[in-house]
Amino acid sequence: MKRDIRFLLLICIQVFMLAGCGGGAAAAGNIHIGCVIYKFDDTFMTSVRNNISDAAVGKAAVEIVDSQNSQQIQNDKVDLLIAQKVKALAINPVDRTAAGMMLEKARKADIPVVFFNKEPLADDMQKWNKVYYVGAKAEQSGKMEGELIVNYWKIHPEADKNKDGVMQYVMLKGEPAHQDAELRTKYSVQTVQDAGIEVEKLAEDNADWDRVKGQEKMAAFLATNGDSIEVVLSNNDDMALGAIEALKAAGYFRDGKYMPVVGIDAIAPALAALEDGTLLGTVFNDGKNQGQATFNLAYALAQGKTINKDNIGYEITDGKYIWVPYKKITKDDISDKN
Ligand code: GAL
Ligand code: CA
Repeated sequence: MKRDIRFLLLICIQVFMLAGCGGGAAAAGNIHIGCVIYKFDDTFMTSVRNNISDAAVGKAAVEIVDSQNSQQIQNDKVDLLIAQKVKALAINPVDRTAAGMMLEKARKADIPVVFFNKEPLADDMQKWNKVYYVGAKAEQSGKMEGELIVNYWKIHPEADKNKDGVMQYVMLKGEPAHQDAELRTKYSVQTVQDAGIEVEKLAEDNADWDRVKGQEKMAAFLATNGDSIEVVLSNNDDMALGAIEALKAAGYFRDGKYMPVVGIDAIAPALAALEDGTLLGTVFNDGKNQGQATFNLAYALAQGKTINKDNIGYEITDGKYIWVPYKKITKDDISDKN
């Protein structure tokens, strides 16, 4: 008899748990959100993507798909998600100028859109009241990167290797036309000039945010310019880490041979490079808050809620933008990135 009761109790607990789980899954599954990433094979975007997934746990079913760096594939994925009647779309465009066209499709189906990481043109952002953008100010990261190199230059007179009072630099750019590539390039250099330091660009090339390409381009810069390079500016950490590999192969970072290299993102391997002294500095690109803000917005829009700081948890600028701040990082403040 005792045994029977225990058995019954067990059954009851199991039924209760199943109902509980089922209920939870159904609640999360009720809100279907589509999320499209420009390409999965990108270190920083992988962090944003993982943070979106984490933020969604227990709240919504977010379907995250890879556009494989092709706008055509992205268009097809967006069409598919619209056909599935998702309640909101979070889109990291392949080509920022294609945002208007994707937005038009979503508007026709009355599906709100949160763009993130690649900023649509201002005109496109005005086309509908259910379109938002989550990102970071590219100009701010460029300025911070410039400040990192200015600080170094000012306290290290030996950095001016040929003693001509001019900073001879090379620039590794992200993919062309990306606001982060264009503005980081512009403002990093301008910040150095604004600090009263004359600059000379020895070389500049696109390496599409990619570590291997960064290494190849840096090897080419070294082959052409040799030891006349005094500073390496990179639009992100992956390319900076690639450049460091090329520099190591050319004898740098040993026997007193040094090259100041700065990047942006503060990804884990970049922090390790700060620790070992190969990377001079980086700028923390806050993937956690970008992912969280993107999800919060998409989730609120999917439920038809009005959008304000109270229910999103982030300041909304001009009714449409969430700007997540950057932060300068050197070896001394690695722990600050959290
Ligand atoms: C930038 C980031 C790069 C790359 C790019 C992709 O914000 O710094 O590393 O991820 O976005 O669009
Ligand atoms: Ca010089």
